[in-house]
Amino acid sequence: MSFRLQPAAPARPNRCQLFGPGSRPALFEKMAASAADVINLDLEDSVAPDDKPQARQNIIQAINDIDWGTKHLSVRINGLDTPFWYRDVVEVLEQAGDRIDQIMIPKVGCAADVYAVDALVTAIESAKGRHKRISLEVIIETAAGIAHVEEIAASSPRLQAMSLGAADFAASMGMQTTGIGGTQENYYMLKDGARHWSDPWHWATTAIVAACRTHGVLPVDGPYGDFSDDEGFRAQARRSATLGMVGKWAIHPKQVALSNEVFTPSEAQVREAREILAAMAKAKAEGQGATVYKGRLVDIASIRQAEVIVRQSEMIGG
Ligand code: COA
Ligand code: MG
Repeated sequence: MSFRLQPAAPARPNRCQLFGPGSRPALFEKMAASAADVINLDLEDSVAPDDKPQARQNIIQAINDIDWGTKHLSVRINGLDTPFWYRDVVEVLEQAGDRIDQIMIPKVGCAADVYAVDALVTAIESAKGRHKRISLEVIIETAAGIAHVEEIAASSPRLQAMSLGAADFAASMGMQTTGIGGTQENYYMLKDGARHWSDPWHWATTAIVAACRTHGVLPVDGPYGDFSDDEGFRAQARRSATLGMVGKWAIHPKQVALSNEVFTPSEAQVREAREILAAMAKAKAEGQGATVYKGRLVDIASIRQAEVIVRQSEMIGG
């Protein structure tokens, strides 16, 4: 029990974050025309080292020239263990206009990583007289990141979102897999000789959701690498949504619709949530704290559960 209220996460849709390499400017207009809520222009691992300077210039031009509509526009910088990251921040924030919303920091390992970027961003904003306050998002994709996930979630008032990066996470943890998210062949339980696959991403997912919900940050599922496998994407995304995440990355445009589908509460879910709220309102009028809905118990906690779905639906609709 705590007397502290859980802070609300930013009230903006974050159902799908579409990535594109900063070195492929031909993709930028297509990204802007997509149905993704968030756009991530990448300077990190989809850009070869020699291409970083040109990619920065491509991204700066795209931020200034392309009509990004109402999308939340984010640039993924390089990790703090590289020689690239400070120039990523300095060049983008000194040369791009106010359309950029957010900077994504990969491979965050502790709160001080976020502090370092926050300090640099704060200095540039002040020096350049930037009016719009840049927000931050981080990727948890190392053993250190997941070990320090709560201090990272609490690290900066600029922090809006936190993603699980399955590929680097698996590598850092020494996991015996080359899969990027989804079912892993060797992660199963045996019962009466039959295999039942389990979810190797479950712990990291719930740890991120708990840290994010404690500190008012949006928890997001990262990439699903096999973009030919729609049902695999859906299964991974549905598990993440069930555990409290608000969205997922798309590393190919065909994943955008899948992500929006899973992370938008369905009409049936919203109808049921509203019926539960109505049943509880009636119970309250009759002086009861609990009642029966479709043969099952609903009580005051059910109001909070139903409100999560209704609020999410209204926020997306609005
Ligand atoms: N955003 C918007 N449009 C994209 C796109 C993206 N990320 N990736 C591909 N497209 C477009 C292509 O230009 C093509 O358009 P067209 O029909 O007008 O010709 C269409 O979608 C189909 O593309 P396809 O041929 O299937 O893909 P590709 O071989 O060109 O590229 C990838 C495949 C995976 C290399 C590419 O999607 C990509 O770079 N994804 C992002 C990778 C990334 O940013 N990783 C970092 C985060 S993990
Ligand atoms: Mg990564």
